[in-house]
Amino acid sequence: MPHIIAVTSEKGGVGKSTLSVHLAGAFQERGLSAVLIDEDGRVGSALRWAARGPGLPFVVLEPEQVKPRKLAQADVVVIDTEGRPKRKELRILGERADVILVPSGVSTLELDATAELMAFFHEDPQTRRRTRVVLGRVPPVGRAGEVAREDLRESGVTVCNTLVRSYAAYVRAAELGVLCRDVPGRGAEHLRHTQQAWADIVTLSRELL
Ligand SMILES: Nc1ncnc2c1ncn2[C@@H]1O[C@H](COP(=O)(O)OP(=O)(O)OP(=O)(O)O)[C@@H](O)[C@H]1O
Ligand SMILES: [Mg+2]
Repeated sequence: MPHIIAVTSEKGGVGKSTLSVHLAGAFQERGLSAVLIDEDGRVGSALRWAARGPGLPFVVLEPEQVKPRKLAQADVVVIDTEGRPKRKELRILGERADVILVPSGVSTLELDATAELMAFFHEDPQTRRRTRVVLGRVPPVGRAGEVAREDLRESGVTVCNTLVRSYAAYVRAAELGVLCRDVPGRGAEHLRHTQQAWADIVTLSRELL
């Protein structure tokens, strides 16, 4: 059976699709067979992301296309969930995923929303064990990411060690329908930033599987 990673949040625009697409890409690059299920048909979704570019290096499926046979051959399945899921849907997700990944920014508002969602996931001990926050859009300069990670951990929340920093390469990748490692550009700084953005994702993928 493949390892199932569901990426979800109650707040919109926290980076679910960006993270899902890139994680699937990182697993694939590491030699694992990755499938991305796009449960969010709207504009920022993974399916539309793939359609804007030359194609992504892994299979992207709509929920209707998901067949047990297709998934059985995968090592890892990443689910990009819909924008504002209902609590009932989150509960179902908690039962079918091996890992529930909750992306969060480091601003107070985002951290409050994340803490609230984690409190819900913690109601069930099994779900609690599967749920992890990943801090994203972390300012590359300063210690906001480290501080948020420490605060969350002190409140009993499991947080991925890897901080996904904020880079323009992620935004550009979505526009071009590629992964951030493949965003074209010139100069040493561009290269450094795209490499750092990709390195964050690969490091995170190793933490997960
Ligand atoms: N690490 C990052 N650095 C910079 N920008 C980022 C990063 N992650 C996401 N973004 C940008 O933040 C915006 C929201 O990201 P994304 O669409 O992935 O969020 P989402 O949670 O899937 O949103 P929705 O709830 O609408 O589905 C996008 O413009 C994306 O390019
Ligand atoms: Mg999305």
